[in-house]
Amino acid sequence: MSFPDVRMRRLRRTESLRAMVRETVLGPERLILPLFVTEGEGVRQEIASMPGCARLSIDHLIAECREAADLGLGGVILFGIPETKDAEGTEGYRKDGIIPRALTAVKEAVPDLTLWADVCLCEYTDHGHCGILEDGVVKNDETLELLAQAAVVYAGAGADVVAPSDMMDGRVLAIRDALDEDGFEDTVIVSYAAKYCSGFYGPFRDAADSAPQSGDRRGYQMDPANALEALREVELDIEEGADVVMVKPAMPYLDVIRLVKEEFGMPTAAYQVSGEYSMLHAAARNGWLDLERVMHESVLSIRRAGADVILTYFAKELARKADR
Ligand code: PBG
Repeated sequence: MSFPDVRMRRLRRTESLRAMVRETVLGPERLILPLFVTEGEGVRQEIASMPGCARLSIDHLIAECREAADLGLGGVILFGIPETKDAEGTEGYRKDGIIPRALTAVKEAVPDLTLWADVCLCEYTDHGHCGILEDGVVKNDETLELLAQAAVVYAGAGADVVAPSDMMDGRVLAIRDALDEDGFEDTVIVSYAAKYCSGFYGPFRDAADSAPQSGDRRGYQMDPANALEALREVELDIEEGADVVMVKPAMPYLDVIRLVKEEFGMPTAAYQVSGEYSMLHAAARNGWLDLERVMHESVLSIRRAGADVILTYFAKELARKADR
């Protein structure tokens, strides 16, 4: 059968018909909101390169998390901006560092919200690299211990999910072992398994003040040219005990999301990163794009590619839109 018996437009005639056959829907439970936590009280520092995002002190963070819970979001992921940085990134794994304090406070105030903690050292090191630096090279095995320590501290403080984003080899295993040893066998690990060395992280590094002071991250993050290598990364992380695997960034790597989902059938996350967010805002500010439409369309594309969970700075706006 074909035209004129078949008319694809029949099912597009009304919103009710379109909704009936819609293949992909974006529920708020699929969305995770990234938030930046800073020291102080009553602090809300807008991030110039990320319109609508701010560095929040814990009191403001709690209010934001309440809103996230009321909107039915799947969770929030916290990034810390410490007052001091050092070569070993000590503030990242100290028991009374900014993230553990934030986790404990939010867990108490908003107990039903799922709390994710990003696990990495780059926000806490003065050199801005994701691990211990020796002669300009990030030392893999030495870094693992510190990441594992951070994960245990975050789990103890109230994190439901720890999400290592450092791209060291073996870190999922190191974190799983350390968590289990301390009785946190139910803490979920979402591994940033295929994290590319991307120019789209620019605004985040501005927000977290985490740009490498020398060199770049090409020695540990993935080459944007590679897709098969992503499958190896994901496979290794699954073997090491990852509960969810992530691809990051999202929109420039939709093919990788699809490959990962089809190959492993694992719960799969994707991170619509700061640059993806900021460029849509920038174009909208110029009157070149309709922000409401493109934020929805961009996140839909990520979901359609195969992501079950999406980390996005648009999470609240999208959830509000779903309400309407
Ligand atoms: C830390 C980390 C980064 C992002 C998330 N975790 C930055 C980086 O690798 O430089 C980027 C998030 C974003 O751009 O929104 N390792």
